[in-house]
Formats: sequence, structure tokens, C-alpha cells
Amino acid sequence: MHYAFTSILCETAVKHTIKEKPMLKEKMLKALNAQVNAEMYSSYLYLSMESYFQSVSLSGFSTWMRAQVQEELFHGMKIYDYICERGGRVALDAIKKPDSDWKSPLAAFKHILKHEQHVTELINDLMDLAIGEKDHATQNFLQWFVAEQVEEEASVGEIVDKLKLIKDDTSGLFMLDAELGRRIFTPPAKGE
Ligand SMILES: [Fe+2]
Ligand SMILES: [Fe+2]
Repeated sequence: MHYAFTSILCETAVKHTIKEKPMLKEKMLKALNAQVNAEMYSSYLYLSMESYFQSVSLSGFSTWMRAQVQEELFHGMKIYDYICERGGRVALDAIKKPDSDWKSPLAAFKHILKHEQHVTELINDLMDLAIGEKDHATQNFLQWFVAEQVEEEASVGEIVDKLKLIKDDTSGLFMLDAELGRRIFTPPAKGE
């Protein structure tokens, strides 16, 4: 009897806590959950590319790709944490199977650029929704991703340009491999 009473008290407390959180609107919550999945897919796609670069003995490219995998996981978790912070429930979905083969490093990087341009569109759509819903907190949160996408497209675009210049020059490719191999992923500090 005493236990049952305590349990009711706890449930009331839990419900009360959730109610106190500034809840996300349903449409916004659904869209943010879809973005968690999109970021996880990005991570999965780049993991597949890392394996491709390993298979063609370009270890610098695969090191760069591993950092990219970690960065995309960080993006997914950043949205995951935000949903929780706003009192929402994260709903995980299946992750689409990524491609597994590319005919050249240039083909792989062109694929990344196209994919990042698509992600930029997704972030812009999320921002449009947050503006439409008058959700100022989510607009503020998404600003970080808007800036991040500018950086992503610029850095990947630069590598595409370099690979185009290199063409079939093996020594140029090895120099770029050495350069890309120096990349290390450091998660940004909270608030950055
Ligand atoms: Fe991302
Ligand atoms: Fe990205």
C-alpha cells in the first residue's frame, strides 16, 4: 500500500517535470527527428567511403573520412540532445543502406559535395519550418548548422577542385593523401 502510494507520487512528479519543459511543437519534433536520421545516414555513408579508401590504399583519405564520420555523429547527437532538452522524445528510424563503391577519389568527393548540398537544403527547410512555427529557440539552435554547412561545402569543394587539378598525376594524389591524413576531429566545446 505504502509502495503503491510512493509510485503514484513518483509518476505525478515525472509527468509534472515533463510538463514544465518548453515542449517542441509536433511538426518541429518530427522534422528534427528526421534530421537525426539524415545525420546518421551521412555518418554511415562516410564510413562506407572510409572503407573504399582503405581498399585502394589511400590511408590519408580514409583518415579524413573517419574524422568526417565522427563529425556527422556529433551533428546527429547535437540534435538528439536538443530534442531531449526541449522535452521531446527522440524516435530513431532505420538508416538507409549507403553506396559502397566509387570509380575514383574524385567520384567519391563529388558524391560528398552533392550530399552536403542536399543536407544544406534539409537544414534550410528546418529553418523555414522553425520560422513558420515562430519557434525562436529552434531558429537559434539551427544557426549553428547553417554556418556548419557553409564550412562543409567549402572544404569538400576545395578537395574536389584539387582532385580535378591532379587528374591522373599519381604524385599529386599522394601529396593530397598526406595532407588529408593530418585531419583530426575535435568536437567543438559546448556553446561554440
Ligand atoms: Fe552533418
Ligand atoms: Fe556534413
